[in-house]
Amino acid sequence: MSDTPQALPRHLAVIMDGNGRWAKARGLSRSEGHRAGTETAKRLVTRCRELGIAHLTLYTFSKENWKRPQDEVRTLFDLLVRFLGNELASLVEQDIRFNVLGELEDFPFAVRQALSHVLKKTAHCRSMTLNLALNYSGRAEILRACRRLVEQGVKPADITEERFSAELFTAGQPDPDLVVRTSGELRISNYLLWQSAYAEYYFTDVYWPDFDADELDKALAAYAGRQRRFGLTGEQALQAGD
Ligand code: IPE
Ligand code: IPE
Ligand code: MG
Repeated sequence: MSDTPQALPRHLAVIMDGNGRWAKARGLSRSEGHRAGTETAKRLVTRCRELGIAHLTLYTFSKENWKRPQDEVRTLFDLLVRFLGNELASLVEQDIRFNVLGELEDFPFAVRQALSHVLKKTAHCRSMTLNLALNYSGRAEILRACRRLVEQGVKPADITEERFSAELFTAGQPDPDLVVRTSGELRISNYLLWQSAYAEYYFTDVYWPDFDADELDKALAAYAGRQRRFGLTGEQALQAGD
């Protein structure tokens, strides 16, 4: 495709923000905003698969989001269950493996069941991994990894970055290269704190439901134009990239 940027992120992580404000601006309910946001997420998954982005992570429900009104939380779970039911065949067809970043135990039974079903049915898929960050908190994930290492009796000297990463929900996946946040908010909101240590960030004012293929292209073009130095000088990084 001629308009495809040269350097694609292997792992794109998105903070899908602004559903509520999108709805308010249109005189709609917050639920309508979340519904529209779900459609945007579906289209993004397919577009990323077409482009060849191997890992896509969507911030879908944070641990902090439990504090929202109960009605809204219920709407979000309903949308999630419906998404899983409607999209399973399409995920399998597109060879997309579904994965969850977060503890499933805290979810209502119906949600857990729907998640487990899609996890199982897409476990063999290899072309792309779709991670939904659900009941997710970066800090909680880091503490969980610490506890798991202690439980396994790992000696302090054996705790390396690789060993630690293997205890995170993203074990086995590359770190995000690009983190996109919509809706004009300039914060991380407890998202992939360990994994995004060297990610590139892209912020846009566009509300999540309006984040279409053109907006994705803009984000990818911005990413392709960045020089990732990883501590090197600009000249060194240029040579390393040759
Ligand atoms: C993102 O949109 C969806 C979730 C956090 C679940 P918001 O619901 O946060 O939308 P705003 O920030 O209120 O506009
Ligand atoms: C972050 O969005 C969480 C998700 C996108 C699921 P929020 O809208 O909840 O973030 P804050 O609380 O405004 O930082
Ligand atoms: Mg928000």
